[in-house]
Amino acid sequence: MRIDVLTLFPGMIEPVVSESILGRARETEIAEIQVHDFRQYSEDKHRRVDDYPYGGGAGMVLRVEPVVKALRNLDADNSALRVLLSPQGIPYSQSRARTLAKNDWIIILCGHYEGFDERIRDYFDVEISIGDYVLTGGELAALVVIDSVVRLLPGALNNEQSAAEDSFTDGLLEYPHYTRPRVFEGRKVPDVLLSGDHARIASWRREQALKRTKERRPDLYEAYLKRRGGSD
Ligand code: ADE
Repeated sequence: MRIDVLTLFPGMIEPVVSESILGRARETEIAEIQVHDFRQYSEDKHRRVDDYPYGGGAGMVLRVEPVVKALRNLDADNSALRVLLSPQGIPYSQSRARTLAKNDWIIILCGHYEGFDERIRDYFDVEISIGDYVLTGGELAALVVIDSVVRLLPGALNNEQSAAEDSFTDGLLEYPHYTRPRVFEGRKVPDVLLSGDHARIASWRREQALKRTKERRPDLYEAYLKRRGGSD
């Protein structure tokens, strides 16, 4: 998969996508991630990409030209899925990550001003928010999107199972995990996990996932029951 990131702060993106699972996915060409400073597309002699808002008001507004120039330069035939990050976008979720991961190519724009020219929206296919809070810019949001998408690409994780069993994959939170020691400061590993009985372990894990989701995320639990036709 190819991912291009348009940002004014490449230094916020590059080090993160060079580490750990993202770094390995790049090295093994599972993900080709390119970070572009779209200031280079500014026609302004000072390379400014923002301007005063028409109608007045506080703050500067990201201009449409450098963004569209960057898009045309990267993707003249409009082949990529173009993703705009903003707090006004549709809420991001695991299922949205799965949908994005099906694309061969995505281009992500990180806004970094109090706002951007409304016409920028016309050049994007989807606008995503990573949550109901305002970040100083789209860079951290882009990293959240990239990380959650790349780990779903075949071969990105060592163990294919681990993405399949993630929290949210079936709309539930994940069951609890334990490793050695068997007892730590009086806290014991549940006996069932030491039983060697794989069917019992699987059913315990399922129960725990349901219990945990019901307690912590009643919204997800209700949605799960609805999908299942109200049983459970
Ligand atoms: N840019 C600023 N805040 C954001 C958010 N919550 N999601 C996506 N992009 C953003």
